[in-house]
This record gives sequence, structure tokens and C-alpha cells, in this order.
Amino acid sequence: MKVLMVCLGNICRSPLAEGILKKKIAERGLSWEIASAGTGNWHIGEPPDPRSQAVAARHGLDISRQRAMQIKPEHLKHYDLILAMDQSNYNNLVNMAQTEEDRAKIRLILDFCYPGENRSVPDPYWDDNGFEQVYTMLEQACEQIVEELVPR
Ligand code: 4NP
Repeated sequence: MKVLMVCLGNICRSPLAEGILKKKIAERGLSWEIASAGTGNWHIGEPPDPRSQAVAARHGLDISRQRAMQIKPEHLKHYDLILAMDQSNYNNLVNMAQTEEDRAKIRLILDFCYPGENRSVPDPYWDDNGFEQVYTMLEQACEQIVEELVPR
């Protein structure tokens, strides 16, 4: 299974989603390919935002070695599941998809917890206090991903 987490900058939300899912998959002895990307290009090559690194560390997760990259159409071909953090990321990804097959891989990550409700993970970039809530949402979504997609 190859999973790509996508947000706007690839420094706040999707690096957390990548780190959380990687840990859950490793704990189960599986070797999925899990990565993250941003639709924007401002932060290419940068480590995650210090506030994301801090909330991850509080939960025993080290995401400091991740580096931001920008989503490209080839990623939509390579990965099996492309998980958008919010509706805007989702719309950008759907517009980038060149085939119906690629389009079908794109979902909102919170769909795993709240199917059909089109819920978004709020962008915490301008809100220092938003990171803990974002972590909780992503932790719950990744737990549900594992429940649904890891064979028992
Ligand atoms: P992210 O948050 O999409 O969760 O990584 C943001 C990071 C940077 C910016 C916006 C959102 N920015 O405008 O630089």
C-alpha cells in the first residue's frame, strides 16, 4: 500500500499525518510506503513547522527528518491512496488528476472517521493553539485507516 498525505504547505498537517500513520504501520510490522506533499511550493525542502514537530514530540513521535515537497501529477499515478487534509487541497488534487483512475484515489482524510460529511482538518498555520486539535483529528483518522485497510 502506498499512501500520500497532502495539505497546502506540507509543513503543518500532512507531515503529522505521515508520521502518525508511519508509526501505526511500523507497529504492525508492515512496510507501506507513506509520504506527504503540499499543493504549494513555498516550503519545498524545509523541515516540518516547529509547532508540528513539538506536538508530535509530545506524543512520542519524531517528524524532524521529514522534508517538504510539492505534489506533482506523477505522484497521483504512483500512490494508491491520496489523502487531502481539506476541501481546497481535495479540489486542487482532483483538478490535477489526468485520468479517472487517478481521481478515484483521492479522498478527504476525515472521510475515514466521518464518511460523507466532507469534513476538513483546519489549517493551524495562523493559530498556535490549533496544533493539538489537529493532532487528535489525524490520530483518529489514521487509526480508522488502519482498522479499514490493514488485514486482520
Ligand atoms: P499546512 O499549513 O498546509 O498544514 O502545511 C500551511 C503552511 C504554510 C502555509 C499555509 C498553510 N503558508 O501559507 O505558507
